[in-house]
Amino acid sequence: MTLAFETDGLVLKTDDLEVLAFKLDLDQDAIDEIGLCLNEDESRRAMGLRLRQDQRRFVATRGRLRHLLAARLEICPADVEFEYEELGKPHLSSRMRDSDLRFSVSRSADVAVIALTNSRDVGVDIEAILPVPEADQIASLCLSAADYESYAAVDAEHRPKDFLERWTRLEAVAKALGCGLGQPIVWNEEDWTVTRFVPRAGYIGTVVVRN
Ligand SMILES: CC(C)(COP(=O)(O)OP(=O)(O)OC[C@H]1O[C@@H](n2cnc3c(N)ncnc32)[C@H](O)[C@@H]1OP(=O)(O)O)[C@@H](O)C(=O)NCCC(=O)NCCS
Repeated sequence: MTLAFETDGLVLKTDDLEVLAFKLDLDQDAIDEIGLCLNEDESRRAMGLRLRQDQRRFVATRGRLRHLLAARLEICPADVEFEYEELGKPHLSSRMRDSDLRFSVSRSADVAVIALTNSRDVGVDIEAILPVPEADQIASLCLSAADYESYAAVDAEHRPKDFLERWTRLEAVAKALGCGLGQPIVWNEEDWTVTRFVPRAGYIGTVVVRN
């Protein structure tokens, strides 16, 4: 089945990278329809989320991921199989690796993005542009010494946006590496192509692809 959204929302395209953005707050019928392709574990995970809105957003994101991958693999969305690394990074199961299709997903408020590449590590992160009162503290804890020094040198007016740019870059790299943010991230910027993009007005995004 090919749903209209599969070609909607392309926000970035290069030779070997596509980033698609979607609005998540769909009407219940659309959520129900897209939710049909989720497996039992995914449906259980959705039901385990406390807020109804979070349940719906998870279903919308996972359903779209399944549809996008299925279209590339020329299979049914429900037949896409995932495996998870130790810290939760999802990828296509080894049974479906022929195409070496790779992906990364991020959600913030009512927008989600999915980045797709062939055979290159990819990570994507988006954030709604909102004030982060504890930004300086987070920056001092999470950024590298050099990155923090350049962040601290930014004037007060531009710091909130600068923080989100650095933060989405860090999360994107963490996702590409599969390590999450629970541990220090060691990465060499020269090994990655880092691209900023605007998923929707009022949001900021960064996608990284290994060179
Ligand atoms: C990966 C991580 C940075 C995502 O952060 P986030 O901003 O909350 O969420 P986003 O919406 O941007 O991304 C979520 C997506 O990232 C992906 N993801 C989850 N864990 C991931 C990981 N370790 N690596 C890469 N991608 C991951 C999933 O596709 C997830 O989508 P889903 O919720 O629909 O399944 C964060 O969840 C994290 O740090 N995870 C690791 C947890 C960890 O370190 N645990 C150690 C035990 S203490």
